[in-house]
Amino acid sequence: MKVSITILVENTTPVPGLMGEFGFSTLIEVNGKRILFDTGSGEALEPNAKALGVDLASVDALVISHGHFDHTGGVLQLLPKLKKPVIYAHSGIFTRHLVPDGSNRTQYIGVPFSEDDLIRLGAQFVAVDDFFPLSDQVYLTGTIPRLTDYEDPGGLFIKEVKGVIAPDYIEDDMALVITHPEGLIIVSGCAHAGIINTINYAMQRIGENKVLAFIGGTHLKGADEIRLQKTIAELKKINPQKLIVCHCTGFTASSRLSWELPAITTKGETGMIFQF
Ligand SMILES: [Fe+2]
Ligand SMILES: [Fe+2]
Repeated sequence: MKVSITILVENTTPVPGLMGEFGFSTLIEVNGKRILFDTGSGEALEPNAKALGVDLASVDALVISHGHFDHTGGVLQLLPKLKKPVIYAHSGIFTRHLVPDGSNRTQYIGVPFSEDDLIRLGAQFVAVDDFFPLSDQVYLTGTIPRLTDYEDPGGLFIKEVKGVIAPDYIEDDMALVITHPEGLIIVSGCAHAGIINTINYAMQRIGENKVLAFIGGTHLKGADEIRLQKTIAELKKINPQKLIVCHCTGFTASSRLSWELPAITTKGETGMIFQF
């Protein structure tokens, strides 16, 4: 089995000529199938793909991790270029995701398109709310159960439902799972469900307790000491071979993970390629 994961968009980059952008996007190649997982905020995807020699038109499937703008900002520009414009995402990505802006107002941080926009562009939208086989040895988690008592969505998120403001647990958050012979490879956008909930659910659904790699956002930025300690203790038990933390992990948690789990932790950045 051959798996290649290229980070096309991440907040930072060590490579001259590539663009760092708040968001996340990665090209996942599994046994010749090409999956684009997220699209970043919208400006960096195309120039970075070009600079890295990635032909976005040949992507077989577009997967969206959740309905935040920094993962979906490139969707509208990308869809007309895809030979097969199929988009796999949780039905909840169209939720009116908001954050308080600090002055009694709210800021919209959701997807910059409607379901009608996708239809107009000839795209097929596949709602993935439950565990879903995407292709040979590749699965999407759908809704991830929130079972740990120390993880939360990672911020003061709110949503508007029929004009009413309510706390937002970002239920549309999901991950992609590859069943590699050496263990699971789990790719996450922001892990608003919690990195441990995400890994545990993938292991439980596949029936596999070895994790080869976790790669993606963890939303540990701003996590308190208790959450950090419990997350690190759990990661030490799970013992993945690689922990590639990106995007919303933040400097403090990335440094801490790197200090506590030095043999396995990498800060993922735009332009990095991982092969398994
Ligand atoms: Fe994000
Ligand atoms: Fe997010």
